[in-house]
Amino acid sequence: MATARDLRSKPNSLLPLLSLLCFVSLLLALSLFRRAASPTPAAASHQTLEVKRHPPAGAAAGGGGGRRPCDYSVGSWIYDPSFESPVRYDGSCKEIFKGWNCIAGGKPGARDLGKWRWKPAACDLPAFDPVGFLEMNRNTNIGFVGDSLNRNMFVSLFCSLKKVSGEVKKWRPAGADRGFTFLRYNLTIAYHRTNLLARYGRWSANADDGELVSLGYKEGYRVDVDLPEGTWAAAPQFHDILIFNTGHWWWAPSKFDPIKSPMLFFRNGQPLIPPLKPDIGLDLVLENMMKYVSKEAKSGTIKFFRTQSPRHFEGGDWDQGGSCPRSKPLLPEQVEDLFGLENNGTNVEARLVNQHLYKALKGSDFHVLDITHLSEFRADAHPSTYGGKKHDDCMHWCLPGITDTWNDIFVMLLTQIRQSR
Ligand SMILES: *[C@@H]1O[C@H](CO)[C@@H](O)[C@H](O)[C@H]1NC(C)=O
Ligand SMILES: *[C@@H]1O[C@H](CO)[C@@H](O)[C@H](O)[C@H]1NC(C)=O
Repeated sequence: MATARDLRSKPNSLLPLLSLLCFVSLLLALSLFRRAASPTPAAASHQTLEVKRHPPAGAAAGGGGGRRPCDYSVGSWIYDPSFESPVRYDGSCKEIFKGWNCIAGGKPGARDLGKWRWKPAACDLPAFDPVGFLEMNRNTNIGFVGDSLNRNMFVSLFCSLKKVSGEVKKWRPAGADRGFTFLRYNLTIAYHRTNLLARYGRWSANADDGELVSLGYKEGYRVDVDLPEGTWAAAPQFHDILIFNTGHWWWAPSKFDPIKSPMLFFRNGQPLIPPLKPDIGLDLVLENMMKYVSKEAKSGTIKFFRTQSPRHFEGGDWDQGGSCPRSKPLLPEQVEDLFGLENNGTNVEARLVNQHLYKALKGSDFHVLDITHLSEFRADAHPSTYGGKKHDDCMHWCLPGITDTWNDIFVMLLTQIRQSR
């Protein structure tokens, strides 16, 4: 129990008071949990509580055109059993990666994931209109640049558009991993695969006899903080709209083991001495890559940075038997327990990455696509044991699924940005 863990990690003279508080909150959490676990979708009632904590809907006019734009990142998930899913696309969209096709994979309740709808506190978020989107983006190139979670979002957009406009050309524009042109609209969308944004590769002492070797380094990964990975280096000149992400690989000790295969940062072709910790390296990479994009992009390019997608491993990390068997979104209390920085849990990197992102994005002309908090609730929306892997997948998202909601927010922000120009 998290409350018990809190107590152990912070022993102090307020212990008696704290235990009382913990006991009370435990009771509260238990009672809420019981309600959510009951067979009827009573979760809707607790979600209403969450809405009321925020300013009433009158505070900001919904959607575009209002005085103050709605904050789409604050709100709650509402269960709507009458919602006829899937409306956008279904498991037959061929671009869906097998491990993310939860309907085909047999995940219980996979068809009902779409019955939960994200309700921003101050406005409504309708499902975007794919025909309107195609019309609005004639002769446009849209690039997703980042790790597999950005591919997850890319596939959601592709499937939504393909459903209404079937004539597509499949190709790989500007070094992309995959891409499609919707021929009737001359709209191209592409996914550029890159884990760290910066270029990186294996490094070993044999190939180098410089300072790193004298410091005792034998093997690792060389990360060039000032060089974009080749997969997307040409993307800023090609695309009119760019959506970046990075994050998961910076907290991936199974690949970048701090002892056996550490990240070794280079700038101007020289190792940075003393060697930096990965989180400092991340700051440098973000700063340099954003500079690169601003320098290379065509004028008028609209740039987004997507915030970190949360994982939901419980009972251990992905390689320690961790799982995500939940069948309903988390309660707000459970979200804090799982993701609060003070708990330092398995999935703590979600908010840590965002701290670095926000620092780098401050004062830049990138738009923030903030999907973290809304996604934190959705422990139920991962492929889980139905992804066809040896371990549970509590990182990627089922499709159809919540990256559809990310795209709704993306389309809404894009519309607002264009209107304000
Ligand atoms: C298609 O769009 C691109 C810009 O994205 C433009 O350069 C090209 O001329 C367009 N093609 C046609 C046939 O309009
Ligand atoms: C968080 O937990 C990890 C191990 O799970 C540990 O290595 C790290 O030092 C902890 N960080 C903090 C700030 O307590």
